[in-house]
Amino acid sequence: MQSDKIQIFDTTLRDGEQVPGCKLDTQQKLVIAERLDFLGVDVIEAGFPVSSPGDFTSVQEIAKLVKNAAVCGLTRAIKKDIEIAADALKFANKPRIHTGIGTSDSHIQYKFNASKKEVIRRAKEAVLYAKNFVDDVEFYAEDAGRTDNAFLAKVCEEVIKSGATVLNIPDTTGYCLPEEYGTKIKYLKDNVKGIENVIISCHCHNDLGLATANSIAGAVNGARQIECTVNGIGERAGNTALEEVVMILKQHPYLNLQTDINTKLLYDTSMMVRERMGMPVQPNKAIVGANAFAHSSGIHQDGVIKNRETYEIINPADVGVIESAIVLTARSGRAALAYRAKKIGYELTKIQLDTAYKTFLQFADRQKEVIDEDIHQIMKQVNKISKIAIA
Ligand code: KIV
Ligand code: ZN
Repeated sequence: MQSDKIQIFDTTLRDGEQVPGCKLDTQQKLVIAERLDFLGVDVIEAGFPVSSPGDFTSVQEIAKLVKNAAVCGLTRAIKKDIEIAADALKFANKPRIHTGIGTSDSHIQYKFNASKKEVIRRAKEAVLYAKNFVDDVEFYAEDAGRTDNAFLAKVCEEVIKSGATVLNIPDTTGYCLPEEYGTKIKYLKDNVKGIENVIISCHCHNDLGLATANSIAGAVNGARQIECTVNGIGERAGNTALEEVVMILKQHPYLNLQTDINTKLLYDTSMMVRERMGMPVQPNKAIVGANAFAHSSGIHQDGVIKNRETYEIINPADVGVIESAIVLTARSGRAALAYRAKKIGYELTKIQLDTAYKTFLQFADRQKEVIDEDIHQIMKQVNKISKIAIA
C-alpha cells in the first residue's frame, strides 16, 4: 500500500521563538530558515509580521531566501494583520497566510466577549480577506482542543466555504489526551462538508507531555500536516518536537505515513537551533538529547556491544549521530571497559581485564564518569604487571 505524505509545518521561528530568551535577529533566522528548507520541511512559519518591524523584516527576508518550502506568516483575524502579512510574504515562491481566531467557550467569552455567531463571522471574513492576497490560506481555530466538536465542525465548514486550504486544529493549552484529540480529528473528517478538499493540521502543545502523542493520533485519524518545532521548543512546555514525529513515522512504517525530511540532518539541525537560540536540550530528550544513544549500565552495555538493536530502536546514523556511546560509570561491566579500551588501542586478555576492572571500579566510585584519559592511567598500571597488546 502506498504511504500517505505528512506535511511538516515548522514553527520554530514563530511559536518556538515566542519563548523568553529565544529571540533571534533576522540574520540568525535566515540561517535557521535555510537549514529547515534543506532539511525538507514543507512549510516554514517565519513569524508574525504585524507584531514588530523586526519580525516583518525577518518574514520578508525569509520569503526571498527560501526555495522549496512554503513560507507562512501568522495573523489574527484582523484586516491590518492580514495586509501586513501579505506584504511581508510578497516575494515568497509559495506564500501562505495563517489566520484564525479562538473558538473555545473561554476564548469566546473572556477574550472576545462575543457570541459564537460573531466568531464565525470574523473567521469567515478573515479567510475571505486573506484570499485577496494569496491562494494558500490556513485557518487556525485557537484552543480547538477545548472547543466543542459540533461548534468546531461548524466553524471549519464555514471557513472551507470561504476558501481555506488548510484547517489547523490547535490543542493550544496541551489539554487533550491522544484518544480525545484523534477522535476530534475523525469527527471533523466525518462531519464537515468539503473537508476532503483541505488538509487538516495538528498543532499540539506539550503542557502534559502529550504533544507528540496527540499529533500522531491526529495523523492516524486523518490529519495530513503536523506543526512542530526543532527540539520541541515553544510557549510554556513547548510544541510537538519535529524530530520526534519524523522518527516515529519512520520507525513505524506500517502506519503508512511518511515525511520528506532528511533524517540524517536532524541531530545537526537540533545543535544549530540550541546554539543559536541559547536554549539547551535536556540530556534525556528523545532523538537528539546527549543521552539518546548513550548506554551506561553494565547489562545494557553488554547487550549493545553484542548487538546494537538489543537496546536501540533507532540507528544513530539515521539521525546524524556518529555512533552509540558506551559511557563508563560505576554501573558499567567488564564488556564495556574492554570495548572502550580497545577503541583507544588496548587489546586486553581475560586476566588483564580482571585486573583493569578492579582499578576501574576505584576510579568509577570516585568520579561520575571514567573518561579515556583515566583508561590510559588504568592501562599503565595493568601494563606494569603484564604487557598489554596494542589493538
Ligand atoms: O497554539 C496555538 O493555538 C497557536 C495558534 C496561533 C496557531 O500557536
Ligand atoms: Zn501554538
